[in-house]
Amino acid sequence: MEKTAAATGCRSGEWTLAEAEVLGRSVLCAPSVHRAQPWRVELIDGAVLLRERVGVALPQQDPRRRDLAMSCGTALANLELAVRVLGRRADVAVLPDPAQPDVVARVEAAELLPPTDLELQRYGAIMVRRGHRGAFTGLPVSVEQTARVVAAAVATGVEATRLEGMERLANFFEHAARSLPDDAAYQDELALWTIRDEHRHGAGMRSPAELPWAGAARRATVLPDLLVLRDRLDAETVLLFTTAEDTRIGHLHAGYALERCWLEGVTLGLAGAVLTQPLRMPEVRSALCEDYRLAGFPQALLRLGRSTRVARSSLRRGVAEVLGDRWRERR
Ligand SMILES: Cc1cc2nc3c(=O)[nH]c(=O)nc-3n(C[C@H](O)[C@H](O)[C@H](O)COP(=O)(O)O)c2cc1C
Repeated sequence: MEKTAAATGCRSGEWTLAEAEVLGRSVLCAPSVHRAQPWRVELIDGAVLLRERVGVALPQQDPRRRDLAMSCGTALANLELAVRVLGRRADVAVLPDPAQPDVVARVEAAELLPPTDLELQRYGAIMVRRGHRGAFTGLPVSVEQTARVVAAAVATGVEATRLEGMERLANFFEHAARSLPDDAAYQDELALWTIRDEHRHGAGMRSPAELPWAGAARRATVLPDLLVLRDRLDAETVLLFTTAEDTRIGHLHAGYALERCWLEGVTLGLAGAVLTQPLRMPEVRSALCEDYRLAGFPQALLRLGRSTRVARSSLRRGVAEVLGDRWRERR
């Protein structure tokens, strides 16, 4: 027999406006590929559905929607923390409904359970996390800090590994940066999503920085000498996220783990930036697996370091837009 909400202590009834804001904002603050924010949140009695906006597409850069699914995964990690700071146990079911393929996850607000100190700290980190597209100060990230960040990657089939031997990674960056500018369709799509920063989506990279911090190689991206690139990468802590499966569910889990690690890094006073562009080239993916003897599929890189510069926060869509029409009317 199904238990009633009262019997299980589950949250029942409509979410209040204040609770809805907390849930909606947590999702909006998540990192997403090109700030595409490919998600919608549906609040139902005692639970939250995270849906993917299937109309958002990057056919040239992300034809398999890996990055878009990962972006939903980052939002899921934030949503789970938001349910926890609202004082409920969060029961997460990923892709629970094959009849509704855009449903990414359902987060059930179960019985009352105060958040832990760590959850409160990570929730606080959601609001201050920013992508750091630039050089770090050079002060090293300690072994203990790296271990804590890596340990936060708790997601089915996902592993976060610190990469050693930056010469190989530098070669991959260089290969991507030399090949991608020649692909006109790719570059057109990239320009559309990265150059304009006054919009509420788009990565806002008006001036293409140098590698490796530019992330995406545009035609005007400055490609430094290979040794310089290697030295720059050597001065950083770079984590690679791999998954046991190269499937949508694997990509969701990768994004979830990535955000958990990033938030943990922020609580430790670290800055970070995510890079996926070189990994979207099949030859780079397979060479990376071979060179670093990886058991899984490479999905994302997270650069970590220290910064004295506070990165600019990027614009987001409005909360009401993410929560949908019903919530727009109630405000
Ligand atoms: C799955 C994923 C892939 C990303 N890939 C790149 C990338 O290749 N290069 C880059 O510079 N930024 C990349 N980003 C960072 C986004 O551009 C960034 O999160 C977005 O612009 C919002 O900015 P914020 O992280 O400062 O909030 C990626 C983010 C995600 C979640």
